[in-house]
Amino acid sequence: MTAPPNRPAPDLSVSVAGITLKNPVIAASGTFGYGLEFEDIVHLDRLGGFVVKGLSREPMTGNPPPRLYETTAGMLNAIGLQNIGARAFLDEKLPKLREIKNTVVFANVFGYTREDYERTIQILNEGEGIAAYELNVSCPNTQHGGIQFGSDPHLLDEVVRTAKRTSNRPLIVKLSPNVTSIAQMAHVAQEAGADAISLINTFLAMAIDPETRKPRIANVTAGLSGPAIKPIALRMVYDAAHAVKIPIIGMGGIAQASDIIEFLLAGATAVQVGTASYWDPCATEKIVDALRMYCEDHGIERISELTGGLLTD
Ligand SMILES: Cc1cc2nc3c(=O)[nH]c(=O)nc-3n(C[C@H](O)[C@H](O)[C@H](O)COP(=O)(O)O)c2cc1C
Repeated sequence: MTAPPNRPAPDLSVSVAGITLKNPVIAASGTFGYGLEFEDIVHLDRLGGFVVKGLSREPMTGNPPPRLYETTAGMLNAIGLQNIGARAFLDEKLPKLREIKNTVVFANVFGYTREDYERTIQILNEGEGIAAYELNVSCPNTQHGGIQFGSDPHLLDEVVRTAKRTSNRPLIVKLSPNVTSIAQMAHVAQEAGADAISLINTFLAMAIDPETRKPRIANVTAGLSGPAIKPIALRMVYDAAHAVKIPIIGMGGIAQASDIIEFLLAGATAVQVGTASYWDPCATEKIVDALRMYCEDHGIERISELTGGLLTD
């Protein structure tokens, strides 16, 4: 089905934390490298934007293999936040990313102490061409017995305040789903200064090989992503949207255009696509095209008007 010839092309643009995106589709951190790896297969300028692999103050080698395992409708990963470090990102990746016109680059940041986050952001502040920081708070706090920053309201409050104070860019706080009340965490992030929130990161999970009686992943536990988590992600976006006024970037299992519509109706302003890039490296760009067609077919003129449009009666 194609759009009637005299109907204007749908306006897919959205605005998050003061940043205008040409469409709401952002490639998710950890599934899109530093963007450059996808340059030959995805037109990066057709995406709303992309989030680079999580960056830390020092380079990290990550966990030993096996680090990935496919589950029913999902994927387990325990990559261990392998990355080249914030300084090498500035020196080696960012100059090349800046040569690609019309792209919006988000830098994902993590740490194991509040000082780690502070130092990583200070380094990245020196670079040009980063639209915003996305703070990954699904990391164990080594100064507080390994509890995740994003699983404790006080730790979350502290780390977001520190990041906000340090950052010279808009701050997106990426929430962990491994909590009792996502609404509470969303509200804490907002009050601590977040300009937007993104959710969800992966669920703590595991798989066992019954024959060998060994874990499928060397790290034993891992993060679950992909279509298996979509209904829970959607519920969490819905809950968060009712708890905050700042924009929400929703993700978790998005694989087709109609999934994006669901996330927008639940309250998201933009979305991220992660695991889908593992089964088709061109998934992000294809989903932008599919979204445009969906809007044409359904007479949706401005996609931003869908946000929070769920009908409950
Ligand atoms: C292999 C892999 C690596 C990831 N690395 C990161 C990371 O470095 N930082 C981060 O915030 N999230 C990371 N994530 C989480 C994703 O960005 C996303 O939140 C999650 O996978 C849910 O979306 P999806 O179901 O579309 O993949 C990673 C996910 C996967 C599958």
